Amino acid sequence: MKKKYTIGIIPGDGIGRDAIGAARIVLDAVNAAADFKMDFKPMDTGELALEKYGDPFPRETREGIAQTDAVLFGAAGNPHTVKVLMGFRLGFNLYANVRPIKSLPGSGAIREKADLIIVRENSEGLYRGVGYIDEDYYVNLRVFTRKGMERILRFCFELGRREGRKQVTFTHKAHVLTYTDEPMRQMFYEMAKEYPDIEANDMTIDACAMQIVMHPERFDIIFAENANGDILSDVGAGVVGGMGFAYSGNIGDSMGVFEPIHGTAPKYAGKNVINPIAAIMAAKMMFDYLGEKETGTKIEKAIIAVLMEGKVRTYDLKGRSSTTDVARAIAEKMSQ
Ligand code: IPM
Ligand code: MG
Repeated sequence: MKKKYTIGIIPGDGIGRDAIGAARIVLDAVNAAADFKMDFKPMDTGELALEKYGDPFPRETREGIAQTDAVLFGAAGNPHTVKVLMGFRLGFNLYANVRPIKSLPGSGAIREKADLIIVRENSEGLYRGVGYIDEDYYVNLRVFTRKGMERILRFCFELGRREGRKQVTFTHKAHVLTYTDEPMRQMFYEMAKEYPDIEANDMTIDACAMQIVMHPERFDIIFAENANGDILSDVGAGVVGGMGFAYSGNIGDSMGVFEPIHGTAPKYAGKNVINPIAAIMAAKMMFDYLGEKETGTKIEKAIIAVLMEGKVRTYDLKGRSSTTDVARAIAEKMSQ
């Protein structure tokens, strides 16, 4: 009997639909060839969910996600972005936002040797939504809990072990944010003692941003607080070829939602022109998460082969191919 997975497919809004439609071509190719079987469970968020159910992140979708082994998600657009993303991230306790920054051969990345992983804390920090407005006083608080910090730091070290990485870098602004970052830094080094096989070091967030641009090869795993990680991962994306190559996994203890980092880009939506590689790499990451590393590797190799050939490329790579052309080319390489 073949192993079976239920995979949630949620295109969301804008180019999320183009991207996930393309990724689906690759998923179908996997389904035809792999020694496991996927059942796809399509669901809606955003505009379509609002039309159907009167809510951009409806109960139907929430309950549907709970029945899956993992989800491939496209994008959430305004005005529903926060509601949808937080529906996933907070609703399913996906506290780790794992964002690989890896340059693929043939992508034209400005740094060819980048191969690091940003672990962005996904539930607390500056984006926790705690604050107030009082007359002319505007406050958003940076909130951490010991529980939240310890679980994400442990996640970083465990990820390091799993991936055979040498070091974890803790980013912060400890000398300025003395109530939050300094005690968090101490927690980090405390936990590091349990992982003597992994080097622990720290860097201020601004210095880290510069180092990612200049010497990304120096990093393995970078921990960043929610807002810092948001910014840092776009810096990283810039180093490896832009949003067409930036993908992520929102991971909790029992669920993973995988998505390209790009937004809905309404200008390009439905035109079948955007680069689907970020979404297809998100699918690759999903297979790794499910323990299907062979399939993950196969997808990545096929992407690299298509990039190296240079014939089928979207506009961001100075080509004229369509989104689905690229996905078909990748699927075809996988069958060779
Ligand atoms: C991201 C995005 C989102 C975030 C926005 C759209 C809320 O920038 O996934 O990086 O900050 O998490
Ligand atoms: Mg962002």
